[in-house]
Amino acid sequence: MADIDLSQIPFWALPQAERADAFRRLRELDRPVFVKENKVPFVGHGPGYYALVRHADVSEASRNAGIFSSEPTANSIVDMPRWLAVYFGSMINMDDPRHARLRRIVSRAFTPRILSKMEEDLQRAATRIVDEAIADGPGDFVTQIAARLPVQVICDMMGIPPKFHDRVLRATNIILGNADSEYTGIEPEFKRWNVARGLVKLMNAGRSLNHLAARLGRERRGNSTGDLTSLLVNGEESLTPQELGSFFILLVVAGSETTRNAISHGLKLLTDHPGQRELLLSDFEGRIGGAVEEIIRYSTPVIQFRRTLTRDHTMNGMDYRKGDKVLLFYNSANRDEAVFADPDAFDITRHPNPHVGFGGPGPHYCLGAHLARREITVMFRELFTRLPEIRSTGEPDYLLSNFINGIKHLPYAT
Ligand code: HEM
Repeated sequence: MADIDLSQIPFWALPQAERADAFRRLRELDRPVFVKENKVPFVGHGPGYYALVRHADVSEASRNAGIFSSEPTANSIVDMPRWLAVYFGSMINMDDPRHARLRRIVSRAFTPRILSKMEEDLQRAATRIVDEAIADGPGDFVTQIAARLPVQVICDMMGIPPKFHDRVLRATNIILGNADSEYTGIEPEFKRWNVARGLVKLMNAGRSLNHLAARLGRERRGNSTGDLTSLLVNGEESLTPQELGSFFILLVVAGSETTRNAISHGLKLLTDHPGQRELLLSDFEGRIGGAVEEIIRYSTPVIQFRRTLTRDHTMNGMDYRKGDKVLLFYNSANRDEAVFADPDAFDITRHPNPHVGFGGPGPHYCLGAHLARREITVMFRELFTRLPEIRSTGEPDYLLSNFINGIKHLPYAT
């Protein structure tokens, strides 16, 4: 489809409804389109990728991890050079058995028992954030409220002292907002050197978080303080310093840049759909579960991840060759009319709601899905209890990205 070019940055600056319409047209095609890849300076690039836009394709590719591999990388369209992979090469970019080993070790921190123990901390953090927002008065919902809870939760989990929280937030903004000049300070025109400078910033942000993790790991080795870092460096099976560094980066990036956008999209959606908001507030505890799932489906904070074919394979009538790249477009799968009735309607009572916002079924399904659901629930409970009139008052300032459906700023009133 000539007028839709997913590899061009301006496509990702189009209004959300126009992008959703482009994906709807892509879903109508007989087979996935092939998208040519952009050249990225200093980084090897391939010919391009197939865009998987249907729910059936995204689900099957996620499930069939032996053929649809997460190696060499799942979170970058181009293969990452070694000088970046050293920071960003955690388990999300690995297949079993390496992936299974790391996932088993880090899953210890995500058991229901540990998560329910965190509930009090979560509540305390949400209360403090809303206290401060009330004291400061309404301004920007993202920086005052939505961005603060997730980063605080991950930092507390890992045992990162509060004085480093801002540094962590700045670094994660650069990592996931790498095409956006507000976070990188680099002019938006898509010029060769600007891309190269963005990559250097990316590496520096990775290095800064890696240093923090290494230092913390050294402090906790043999001196457990009960946080996740202590667990990861002292357990029977423990992580190497390199593994700890890249896992920490994965966790802060995956855990904070996603959940904060779900909270921001949530406020906007509940403002734009007053009937849904009324429905939620009339039975908050009964309906918040469905509302969280629908916010994730409708907004899809993570737009896509990549897979690479390990051998020739036919899926849903389409032939793929060994080495082909595919992108799993969760945003499109989540609006697939073959699965969701009236997919463009925001409906918190939608049931069932088999969205793939946390990834498709398979070994890489989001490790933090339960935690994210709890964070979003606690934050909206706190907001609607203490500021029942809270609403967004203008258009969001969206992040320019083909990876994260992010909101950088959102004006609000109470
Ligand atoms: C609304 C919030 C979130 C969204 C939309 C989201 C989305 C996703 C998606 C789509 C994947 C699948 C990657 C793939 O299949 O290749 C994933 C994986 C992952 N997520 Fe999340 N996530 C969220 C919150 C969190 C939180 C709070 C954490 C941690 C505290 C987290 C940690 C992870 C990790 C570690 C993985 C990799 C799992 C693996 O490779 O085995 N996420 N997430």
